[in-house]
Amino acid sequence: MTDGQERAWEDLSARYVLKVPRDAAVTSIAPGAVIDPAHVWGRSARLIAEIGSGQGHAIVHAASTRPDDDFLAIEVFTAGLARTMLEADRAEARNLRLVEANAPEVLQHLLPPASLHELWVFFPDPWHKNKHNKRRLVTAEFAALAARSLTDGGVLRLATDWEDYARQMRDVLDEAAGFMRDFEGEWAPRFDGRVLTAFERKGAHAGRSIRDLSYRRDPSAVRGI
Ligand SMILES: C[S@@+](CC[C@H](N)C(=O)[O-])C[C@H]1O[C@@H](n2cnc3c(N)ncnc32)[C@H](O)[C@@H]1O
Repeated sequence: MTDGQERAWEDLSARYVLKVPRDAAVTSIAPGAVIDPAHVWGRSARLIAEIGSGQGHAIVHAASTRPDDDFLAIEVFTAGLARTMLEADRAEARNLRLVEANAPEVLQHLLPPASLHELWVFFPDPWHKNKHNKRRLVTAEFAALAARSLTDGGVLRLATDWEDYARQMRDVLDEAAGFMRDFEGEWAPRFDGRVLTAFERKGAHAGRSIRDLSYRRDPSAVRGI
């Protein structure tokens, strides 16, 4: 981290970063470490989480423009979390919390079932080489954890600039119990709450199409479509 990011961590982490019990790995979450969102945010409001929030552009923008909702940034990249805190402090966003942790464990152990109104996954690491594909976040196991975390009617929003990952996400979620497509046609329209980030710009610059997807939590959906 830069000196400024170190200072942000010292000055702002008490306000923004959740202290969580760990398992063996530094970014793990100990089983049973469930939070009470009403206690953490100090009120009952709709909760939106972003996985892989990076520098925090999308979630800080959302938190500062939607003061009636609460937000959780989930990231493993410490310097990105420091940037997110600086931006959040500048924007005076008090409805945002950050957790430095591996996202699937946050869904499994930290968040109560049916606690999220929306879950966002924008430009997850593509792991585009064939031999690395298996490291991708969006798998059937991930879909089950997302379904567990979302409230009935809640929405999972995704975006990627990698065509084969977009297709993999769509295949996985079409097959996932408890999700319905929330779009017509091949792909969802661009989510207007999604701020343009360097990852999207880089993908578009390289000539890749940006694909959005959105799926609604519907417990009666045995298969998505
Ligand atoms: C390609 S970047 C995209 C960042 C941001 N969404 C954007 O569009 O600018 C992917 C981010 O996901 C984070 N990430 C990867 N695996 C993760 C995991 N298992 N849990 C939490 N964050 C993760 C990385 O640290 C990285 O910041």
